[in-house]
Amino acid sequence: MASTSLDKDRIKILLLEGIHQNAVDTFRAAGYTQIERRTAAVPEAELPGLLEDVHFLGIRSRTQLTADVLEAAEKLVAVGAFCIGTNQIDLEAAAEKGVAVFNAPFSNTRSVAELVLAEAILLLRGVPEKSAQAHRGTWAKSVGTSREIRGKTLGIVGYGNIGKQLSVLAEGLGMRVVFHDTSDVLPLGNARPVATLEELLEQSDIVTLHVPEAPTTQGLIGKAEIAAMKPDAVLINASRGTVVDLEALASALEGGHLAGVAVDVYPTEPRSNDDELDTPLKGLDRVILTPHIGGSTLEAQENIGAEVAGKLVRYSDNGSTETSVNFPEVVLPPHPDCHRILHVHRNVPGIMAAINRVFSDLGVNVDAQFLKTSNDLGYVVTDVEAKTSEGALDALRNIEGTIRTRVLY
Ligand code: NAI
Repeated sequence: MASTSLDKDRIKILLLEGIHQNAVDTFRAAGYTQIERRTAAVPEAELPGLLEDVHFLGIRSRTQLTADVLEAAEKLVAVGAFCIGTNQIDLEAAAEKGVAVFNAPFSNTRSVAELVLAEAILLLRGVPEKSAQAHRGTWAKSVGTSREIRGKTLGIVGYGNIGKQLSVLAEGLGMRVVFHDTSDVLPLGNARPVATLEELLEQSDIVTLHVPEAPTTQGLIGKAEIAAMKPDAVLINASRGTVVDLEALASALEGGHLAGVAVDVYPTEPRSNDDELDTPLKGLDRVILTPHIGGSTLEAQENIGAEVAGKLVRYSDNGSTETSVNFPEVVLPPHPDCHRILHVHRNVPGIMAAINRVFSDLGVNVDAQFLKTSNDLGYVVTDVEAKTSEGALDALRNIEGTIRTRVLY
């Protein structure tokens, strides 16, 4: 079989769940024409039939890509999760089939940071409580404990993408920023690291959480941590629901501790908009409750469209797997004038020797080779002189442990 790069007109792209038009534009700009965009999610039972001849699939959080579904999607090369989470995809099964998965971890960073800043302002002004009173017809016009955020100390727990973005914006509004992170991270602007979480809790007027969901962050803010906060401080959680003990928070608020709280994420969240939210914070006037919308803005959706489609195009055109969530990451230069052979394999001893034996036996002239392995998977990319790639692909396919091969030119 001749080693042919698949024609872009024959590459089928299916985008489900109302992915932004931006994604379609990104594919079109890169020369792809067979793009179908659907607004709804597809039930799991219908996916195998639908995905039979799809090469690139875009989904959001409602499409369940189980091992069985992936098994049926014979031509699938890569999946774009046009969201942050990838729990809806069996990543291991995808890797075993040689299907790379990409997502958009940073597209909504700014959206979260803006919401947190807005909440910090509203909470220090006592707006949630005043708004609730006004809804009940109570006219509570008084300075009371209303404060500006200027000059106040913002304590950021988890100084990653969102924490840093927030740090810069908060300093722009005249806040003093301290942060605590378990990794050694570079402070931006005048932000200062503090050695312990306790230290941060004791000195912050606003505590905001931006840590990942992990066993080490579960219950990070419990009764003792809440008690360590200043009595008139406010707490904001737009990270993950498991990070804060909401029962402890509710009883602290009921006891008059803390000026206010904003919560966007919950230990158990309703599965759909038809289900009800259950939280001990319901009905408390000093609390802003939002339905996990920290990262949900039109701008973030637009960014996600371009970011994930861009990654799929890059993988399709050039083979780069940078930021893939289930594949070894290889960042590749352009490959003018040569054929690029991609080989995804089980990471077993001797496979590289077998691959290179193919090239040497067939007299293939190798220009460059890139290799990365992670866990059980290996990804080797070999740039070869155009006229010598013929035949190599077939031989590579027959190597024991090969999962998938592709050639690009
Ligand atoms: P990131 O991975 O860039 O940053 C997390 C930081 O937390 C890292 O610097 C890490 O070293 C640090 N960290 C980990 N464990 C820690 C601990 N025990 N104490 C202190 N620091 C710790 O993550 P990113 O993108 O900033 O996201 C932060 C959180 O926000 C994540 O949980 C993410 O799922 C959530 N998120 C929520 C959204 C929403 O809609 N509410 C939207 C986007 C993200």
